[in-house]
Amino acid sequence: MSPRLRHLTTLEHLPRETIERLLDRAMAMRDACAHGTRKIDLLTGRTVLNLFFEPSTRTRTSFELAARRLGADVVNFDIGFSSANKGEELYDTLHTLEAMHLDAIIVRHKASGTPDELVRHAMSGVSVINAGDGNRAHPTQGLLDALTIRQHRPDFENLAVTICGDVKHSRVARSDVHALSALGVRDIRLCGPASLMPDAGEFAQCRFVEDFSQAIEGADAVIMLRLQKERMAQTELPDEAAYFRQYGLDSARLARARKGCLVMHPGPINRGIEIASEVADGAQSRILEQVGNGVFVRMAVLGELLAR
Ligand code: CP
Repeated sequence: MSPRLRHLTTLEHLPRETIERLLDRAMAMRDACAHGTRKIDLLTGRTVLNLFFEPSTRTRTSFELAARRLGADVVNFDIGFSSANKGEELYDTLHTLEAMHLDAIIVRHKASGTPDELVRHAMSGVSVINAGDGNRAHPTQGLLDALTIRQHRPDFENLAVTICGDVKHSRVARSDVHALSALGVRDIRLCGPASLMPDAGEFAQCRFVEDFSQAIEGADAVIMLRLQKERMAQTELPDEAAYFRQYGLDSARLARARKGCLVMHPGPINRGIEIASEVADGAQSRILEQVGNGVFVRMAVLGELLAR
């Protein structure tokens, strides 16, 4: 059996067995909640801290819900009203909060690598969970995307998955590729304008296809990505109308995918820029299912790291 995780900063190099264990646990959490057990007494007496230096709706809220459903106490650190605004450095903030006896820190930061830095500086016994760092990793998003696909298409070895959009700046794309590759998906296609594609060497297991109509041909799932303007240089910003014509997902493009192709997006979505409303709100959309699965995946991760 693969060893229990102490921290979760990336899915890269995690064994398939560990990823499957987390997905199985997420399903068990979902089943328990579906049967009316909204509270599971697994983390009573534990305290987790949401430390978000970047905005979030889905990740922060679902981590809070997940922790509370498991009986933990949750502190939502409000950066805007914190002493970080008076110049307190990250590690002084970390040690100050640790002195209040935390068990886990859930961190989102614009700088790639921050969660691993916190692992190196954190007190022994404090777990660190990455809620998104720069363009590097968003491991719980990778897990919830894999779970959403598994619920509909469990035969990972035979799947074709298209990831389209601003791959270069996307931590979601990286964690999705790590999760899906580990689970056995062999046909992962990355699509987007050349200016928003990463170095091929970083995604050696994927096929790069610049034309979206080709990239989506016969796909079982298509994961659309948000244009991450906050991470782009001014020169990288595409014209939005032209971008939608070439890389937007509408009904005509979706018709080229396999029948019943899963439509996914990590959110927040930009309607009319990367996805048409008719598709985002259509019968094949799994976007809100992804959000719901986020709570169960985060319960599974918190349980893995913190249960006694
Ligand atoms: N998918 C995702 O990370 O969404 P939030 O930024 O709302 O957390």
